[in-house]
This record gives sequence, structure tokens and C-alpha cells, in this order.
Amino acid sequence: MGDFLELAARRQSCRSFSGAKTDRDKLTKCVEAARLAPSGCNGQPWSFVVVDDPDKVAEVGKCGRAFGSNAFTEKAGAFIVVLEEYAELKPALREVLDSQFFAKGDIGGAVLSICLEAADLGLGTCIIGLFNREKIAELLGLPREQRIGALISVGCPSDGTIRPKVRKPLEEIVRYV
Ligand SMILES: Cc1cc2nc3c(=O)[nH]c(=O)nc-3n(C[C@H](O)[C@H](O)[C@H](O)COP(=O)(O)O)c2cc1C
Repeated sequence: MGDFLELAARRQSCRSFSGAKTDRDKLTKCVEAARLAPSGCNGQPWSFVVVDDPDKVAEVGKCGRAFGSNAFTEKAGAFIVVLEEYAELKPALREVLDSQFFAKGDIGGAVLSICLEAADLGLGTCIIGLFNREKIAELLGLPREQRIGALISVGCPSDGTIRPKVRKPLEEIVRYV
């Protein structure tokens, strides 16, 4: 078994892709990692669209640059679009919680699983926060009301340098009682 903390430190937002095509088997493994992620009531409120057709990759990339940032997505080899789906909660919870109560957190976990698996496979990822949702829905043939949970650019990093993590110190964010 490898060292998980080493992998967590090696996973970083890749903003320099080589432009090479991304191996579909590796993309599938990333989705498999997301499939195994935990979710509230095991509701699994997600599905995934893997965009690896070069023409579609170019179009989805434009959506990620719609707000004037993320120029690096021009050389991404693929995108994984995480869709928010209906979550079937346990009957007792259904009475007190909205079906999507856990969904955002669940999707966050799935997204991190994708990024960690990609890092383990030598791929780079960068989560794209701002993107043209309407246009992506149109490109992927999704209903207008479909919630898009996340857009992740994936590709071969053109530079293997691992940056030191900029994070709050442990003492600042943890206390033991
Ligand atoms: C919800 C979310 C949205 C993000 N959106 C962007 C983005 O649009 N462009 C970008 O370059 N990085 C984006 N990032 C990456 C963060 O900037 C990055 O995770 C953070 O600075 C920590 O760096 P690291 O991922 O290299 O460890 C996003 C990350 C998250 C979790």
C-alpha cells in the first residue's frame, strides 16, 4: 500500500497541460474512484460525463474560459463533468431533509476522489469553478434544469514539478478535546 499523504501532497491543480490525448482507461479509473466515494445515505447523487472527443474537449474548454480565466484549459486532454442527480435518502431522513441536503458535500468527495486517482495515474487535474453552465448543458445535450456539480479539466502535465502546498498550519485548524 502506498503512502496516502504523499499522494495527497502530490495532487495539485495542474495549470499546464501538454495537449496530449488522455488515455480513456485512465479516465474510466478516475470515474471508478468517484463511484466508490461515500455519500449521505449512500444516495450517490451523481453521474459523470467524460468528454474526450477532441472537438467536444475544445468546446467544453471554451465554457471553462467564459469568464476570462483558465486559459490553460486550452490544452486539457479531457474534461469530466460531474452532474448532480437526485439522492434517495433513507425514509426517516426523507421526512426531515430535502433529498439534496448532502449532495454538494457528496459531490465534493467524488471530485476529490477523481483528482487523487488521476494524480496516482500520473495525470493532472484542475477543478474549474466558474464556467458557462448553460452552454455546457447545451453541448452535452442535458436538460436546462440539470445541475452541474463540477467541471474538472484533466490531462498530461507538461511540467512534473510538485509545488509546496500553501495551507493554514495544522495548529490553526485543529484542536483536540
Ligand atoms: C471549487 C473549486 C473551484 C476551483 N476553480 C478553479 C478555477 O476556476 N481555476 C483554477 O485555476 N483553479 C481552480 N481551483 C483550484 C484551487 O485554486 C486550488 O485547489 C487551490 O489553490 C489549492 O491548490 P492545489 O489544488 O494546487 O493544492 C478550484 C478549486 C476548487 C475546489
